[in-house]
Amino acid sequence: MAKQNIDWSNIGFEYSKTAKRFVSNFKDGKWDDGVLTDDNTVVLNECAGVLQYSQSCFEGLKAYTSENGHIVCFRPDLNAQRMVDSAKRLEMPPFDPDRFVKAVVDTVKANADYVPPFGSGATLYIRPVMFGTNAVIGVKPATEYQFRIFTMPVGPYFKGGAKPITIKVSDFDRAAPHGTGHIKAGLNYAMSLHAIVTAHAEGFDENMYLDAATRTYVEETGGANFIFVTKDGTVVTPKSDSILPSITRRSIMTVARDVLGLKTEERKVSFEEVKDFAECGLCGTAAVISPVGKIYDHGKEILFPSGMEKMGPTIQKLYDTLTGIQMGRIEGPEGWVKVI
Ligand code: PLP
Ligand code: COI
Repeated sequence: MAKQNIDWSNIGFEYSKTAKRFVSNFKDGKWDDGVLTDDNTVVLNECAGVLQYSQSCFEGLKAYTSENGHIVCFRPDLNAQRMVDSAKRLEMPPFDPDRFVKAVVDTVKANADYVPPFGSGATLYIRPVMFGTNAVIGVKPATEYQFRIFTMPVGPYFKGGAKPITIKVSDFDRAAPHGTGHIKAGLNYAMSLHAIVTAHAEGFDENMYLDAATRTYVEETGGANFIFVTKDGTVVTPKSDSILPSITRRSIMTVARDVLGLKTEERKVSFEEVKDFAECGLCGTAAVISPVGKIYDHGKEILFPSGMEKMGPTIQKLYDTLTGIQMGRIEGPEGWVKVI
């Protein structure tokens, strides 16, 4: 299929309308079969559950053109399962994981001419979203929902691509203990908007959130998990019940251990020890692996030895191996890459 006439190497991380999206509605206790449609608008009752009490959750994954020309996506079954977990926590009706994966495949196929070519640096970002549609005025879950999957070609999440970024320790909390930090609820992102606008206004790329209860342990950023590398080459990632279980992070830890033979630790990471790490990076679908060069904490700075020009050596190896698997250059564990 002929590709769209897009300057693939120069697109940002922005919404654009592609040809088709998948839409299924939940009514009278069941999800309908769903359709692919051209219509990118949603018409809602003014009292819809999503508009009053923010009953929504979403996912994010990407489709790529692999080195051998196939369109593929990465571990969509894990996004399907995480969306089930999000829906259950928000009292929404889960969408069947097999149907989720099929709908992702159908939507990407229907937008194949928007999947960036291999080597362009761009990808097709896939956004599944679910929200309460019927009127609710008392505080209670909606009884009708929409599940929608739309796509858009995107470039790097952080301007400057693979250049190290600067983050600040936030004065705001992202998620409460026993709250919703571990699911992909829209409300978590509403919580982080003032913090990200503030960080950007002060010249930082992102926030490091600490645990809300004690403000002593590292949690995550607004849109990615952390990975650290110790001076002796161990890959460390924070363990917490109030961070999103990143699919990218789980994949990196497997790659580090099983493909690269590195030591790995998933454990609580106190902010105090961050200054002693050799490398720091953010990981997520949008962020891929973005190196962190500097962390600012109320007048003090932590500068990682890898500096502000390039990724540190271990993070570079993890990046090359993970993206190599995603692009089909390196064989990954069974079932990670799904051919569309
Ligand atoms: N943490 C947050 C808050 C996120 O929004 C995301 C993005 O989805 C991640 C982490 C990374 O998760 P994943 O690797 O599954 O995209
Ligand atoms: C993703 O990485 O897919 C996310 O949902 C994060 C968001 C900040 C774009």
